[in-house]
Amino acid sequence: MFIKFFKEHDIFHLQNDQISYVIKLLKNGQLGHLYWGKKIRDVQRLDRYQLSQHRPYEAYAVKDDTGFILENIAREYPSFGQSDFREPAYQIEAKAGSIISDLKYKEHQIYAGKKRLKGLPATYVEQKEEAESLDITLYDEILDLEVILTYTIFKDYPIITRSACFKNKGEKNINLKRALSMSVDFENRDFELLQLSGAWGRERDIIRRPLEQGMTKIDSKRGGSSHQQNPFAALVEPDTNEYYGEAYGFSLVYSANFMAQAERNHYGKIRMTMGINPFNFNWLLEAKESFQTPEVVMNYSDQGLNKMSQNYHQLYQNRLVRGKYRQKERPVLINNWEGTYFDFDTDKILEMAAAAAEVDIELFVLDDGWFGKRNDDTSSLGDWYVNEDKLPGGLEYLAQEINKLGLYFGLWFEPEMISPNSDLYRKHPEWAIQAKDRESSLSRQQLILDLSRRDVQNYIIESVSSILEKADISYVKWDMNRPMTEYGSLELKAERQQELNHRYILGLYRVLEEITARFPEVLFESCAGGGGRFDPGMLYYMPQTWTSDDTDAVERLKIQYGTSVVYPPSSMGAHVSAVPNHQVERSTSLKMRYDVASFGNLGYELDLTELNKDQIKVVKNQVNNYKEIRTLVQFGDFYRLQSPFEGNFAAWSYVARDKKDVLAGFYQVLAAPNPREEKLKLKGLDTNSNYKEINCGEIYGGDELMNYGLKIPYLKEDFSSKVWCFRKI
Ligand code: DGJ
Repeated sequence: MFIKFFKEHDIFHLQNDQISYVIKLLKNGQLGHLYWGKKIRDVQRLDRYQLSQHRPYEAYAVKDDTGFILENIAREYPSFGQSDFREPAYQIEAKAGSIISDLKYKEHQIYAGKKRLKGLPATYVEQKEEAESLDITLYDEILDLEVILTYTIFKDYPIITRSACFKNKGEKNINLKRALSMSVDFENRDFELLQLSGAWGRERDIIRRPLEQGMTKIDSKRGGSSHQQNPFAALVEPDTNEYYGEAYGFSLVYSANFMAQAERNHYGKIRMTMGINPFNFNWLLEAKESFQTPEVVMNYSDQGLNKMSQNYHQLYQNRLVRGKYRQKERPVLINNWEGTYFDFDTDKILEMAAAAAEVDIELFVLDDGWFGKRNDDTSSLGDWYVNEDKLPGGLEYLAQEINKLGLYFGLWFEPEMISPNSDLYRKHPEWAIQAKDRESSLSRQQLILDLSRRDVQNYIIESVSSILEKADISYVKWDMNRPMTEYGSLELKAERQQELNHRYILGLYRVLEEITARFPEVLFESCAGGGGRFDPGMLYYMPQTWTSDDTDAVERLKIQYGTSVVYPPSSMGAHVSAVPNHQVERSTSLKMRYDVASFGNLGYELDLTELNKDQIKVVKNQVNNYKEIRTLVQFGDFYRLQSPFEGNFAAWSYVARDKKDVLAGFYQVLAAPNPREEKLKLKGLDTNSNYKEINCGEIYGGDELMNYGLKIPYLKEDFSSKVWCFRKI
């Protein structure tokens, strides 16, 4: 039993060996919050800390208790409009125009396992014993509105998931103006907000800022989860670092507009909320209809950020990602994009594939430009039939020939888009997202299909399926390359226009569910101009994501390091590309490029026919070396050892679950003359065992590597790296 209800204290205790989360029924019938953090054995007396306290110039929510001030009470799913002036978890507007609601406890249910969320991605269990769940039903009598808060606590992870479901039980419509997935209140604490922010080509920088009185917020209004802000935030103590201190992580399993916000009030109390972005959101909840919010994955660590990340990595790898590739090693691929861009034909592709076969690469991915009349980015999105002028014999022939070389064949799509210059647009201009009678802003010369429409969803399912059925395709790269503007659907009624973004993502999830179920053998990789939609929602359908369009090894240190705060290495596509690098014009050695990319899902993205014999030899060695280490890389425990955000160096490592194999990488950005000596202390090894470095044969104690550390050799060049591979003896 992980969830207990103590009736005499009106307290719910959600607990496992690591954490406690405590909810209290308040005397006004609403839900209060008592505690979340490291396990407390006996929580029944915790309510003594929730004292009523009179405060000047406040309002109190029960008549006979002037200290019952909601502003000063920790609440579980707060409303606005009584005596709490902080931002609420939800907001409704009733037919009569009132925004006041009062959700009171009605009943609850505790059950083994975890329910699926209809139409939405979410973490899951395979055996009921893996988790326990609690549904608390709240009810507003006047509105005839029910809200069910669902909590799941996993047995083996210090993790709780939360979501909310609104049910209009009455006869009148209700406008849901805000429906967040969760809210949690903390006492006065000196928290900082940690966020993963960036832009195209430099996704997921790690940023920390202190919470002052007022709002500290991140969000996306760009249609997708975005390059700019990842749907993740953590509250950390000022002295929390990778291996020390408390961290509370919040990760939203959602791929559209979101918001995460920490509000610090005048008593120092902190309210953290997260969910669908309330900006430009309104959902018309008709009589007897329900609305389900996405899920937030709440993660507690008392051993710093690295432990928080490992919790996410393990849960997402094992209980978010689905299908054949969940536990399967990912193939080493080559992608032609940076090698050819749009300029290719069958002969060129087969020449590149033959070179890839020579170096033992396993999968050839044909990127953008194979369909319609697409020779640049001005046309053809939506016209998903092969361009026989470029590829005579079609994809069937190409796939066959590539298979004959011993490689699998993979294909790029961008199914959510429509080019104004396409047969599809000429036939169905109404299928594009658009604001009626207004000009649409183009981005990369394209528009977005209105996936809130069933006919559009079906078109995508059928057109992608018919290509996948015809040729032997083992891998799909699912791209999406623009932000959403002029939010509008020609099909939705006026009062439902602000539902578009959420309806779009529900439509996309339906499409992805259908296609991945039809083609369970295919490995799917999601992409949005690189990492513009690197989120748990997409990972549920596609086990890996193209991390960034920036393939420069130095830039990738930061991008992969930041991404690892939430996402498991098995989810990160990482490619060796040509130099000078196409994004930053920097030239780095083939070794440095491999040493960085090989800490993710290795791929190559260049024209191998342009390499000389020596370079080809190096690449072949790299590919075969990666095959030796990839189980460890893709499924081992990841440790961040030195942050590229803090200086000239970066370091990270993998340790196998059984601690037998260890891989560590150290990277220098710029060389210095006559530098000071650097050392690297490893983490997570077996202190009582010895390890052999497999390249030089040297023996080290596990405790020695962790406490004395590795001496870094003098790296004389800019952009250099050193990688060690240890095996327990
Ligand atoms: C953006 C992706 O991130 C690239 O890898 C490539 O697939 C291009 N789109 C193709 O248009």
